[in-house]
Amino acid sequence: MNIAIIGSGTMGSGIAQVASTAGNTVKVYDTSKEALEKSEAALEKILRKITDKGRITEEEKNRIQGNISYVEHITDLSDADLTIEAIVEDLDIKKKVFKELEDCQRKDSILASNTSSIPIATIAAALDHPERVIGIHFFNPAPLMALVEVIPAVQTSEEIKNQVVDIISEWKKVVVVAKDTPGFIVNRVARPFYGEALRIYEEGGGSFGEIDRAMKEIGGFRMGPFQLMDFIGNDVNYSVTETVFKEFYYDPRYKPSFTQKRFAQAGYLGRKSGRGYYHYKDGKIDTSKHPELEKELNQKKSTKIFERILVMLINEAADALFLNIATAKDIDSAMTKGVNYPKGLLAWANEKGIDWCVSKMDELYDMYHEDRYRCSPLLRKMVAKGESFEI
Ligand code: NAI
Repeated sequence: MNIAIIGSGTMGSGIAQVASTAGNTVKVYDTSKEALEKSEAALEKILRKITDKGRITEEEKNRIQGNISYVEHITDLSDADLTIEAIVEDLDIKKKVFKELEDCQRKDSILASNTSSIPIATIAAALDHPERVIGIHFFNPAPLMALVEVIPAVQTSEEIKNQVVDIISEWKKVVVVAKDTPGFIVNRVARPFYGEALRIYEEGGGSFGEIDRAMKEIGGFRMGPFQLMDFIGNDVNYSVTETVFKEFYYDPRYKPSFTQKRFAQAGYLGRKSGRGYYHYKDGKIDTSKHPELEKELNQKKSTKIFERILVMLINEAADALFLNIATAKDIDSAMTKGVNYPKGLLAWANEKGIDWCVSKMDELYDMYHEDRYRCSPLLRKMVAKGESFEI
């Protein structure tokens, strides 16, 4: 297939590598010549590394690079069967680019956006043929992360959706289909991992280190919430939370945290700035500045922290299912493949017991009387019927 990638930044470069590795002809376009040159050089570096490690042969390396060309005009993309846009997160600019694509491509080519937060329907609405517009949301780094969310807009035809699911599956990715709603699956369901951890910290329920260790050592998560926020960057993570909050008409469940906002404002961005919730030395947490990381784990306190965050995550996953954002199977794959959760949240709910989930949510609600802690009606219905999730 002829694949076009627009934007040769972090995501565009990664997606181009994935498409080319899968055997497609790929054209990468960017308004910045420098960005194109950087992308080409970065690919050479990555492929050299994996070739030297023996993961691919020299021929494969040449084939992957040979499949990709870098172009300086959008009209060079006229023969594309599928275009994936990965430019700045700005609706007006995206609309303009999609309109230009429509003017230079066949009427039946597929036009996709890798956007994390812009409704696909608003991009599609800019076109004369909106039925071929769809969201294809990769995770960073695209070549390493198995998950891809496919998001049909209300205008997208069933045929285009099916074609895209087939194409991306052939690229050896785990494809999940999500409704065109804020955060799709992963960026919605994962919110409590950060938000509830911040809330517990703000209430004095644990230090960054204690909360992280509870999630890692009891929950089996690879990184604790604060370590992960430092890894993602507090500026980036805060802005996703704020967008999701606004898009959900200020539902208190997604309310951002002042702690995180102040950290971002202070320039405590995380690993990239050398300081976030933790201090970093040579890219690693400087444990000498965090004595709590060396202390023995307080089992009772840690279990309480872990269970509170877990039940909030389960409640969010259940509510996403209740509102038909995706299937139970896709919600669970999204969290295990997109953000490496140790278990799918709905499978975890079955394990803990649905009645356990409801009583934990009700305990929180009784304590706070905040809408943030409302239990998903789906969980309540399931308890009444004695059901568990079918995944
Ligand atoms: P980036 O800033 O690394 O790259 C964007 C590239 O687009 C730049 O090279 C820029 O020169 C180019 N560009 C800007 N306007 C353009 C135009 N009109 N025509 C052609 N090229 C243009 O951005 P990044 O991080 O790769 O993000 C791109 C998109 O992917 C955004 O929509 C973002 O929301 C989404 N995304 C980002 C993820 C991430 O972790 N960085 C994860 C998933 C999605």
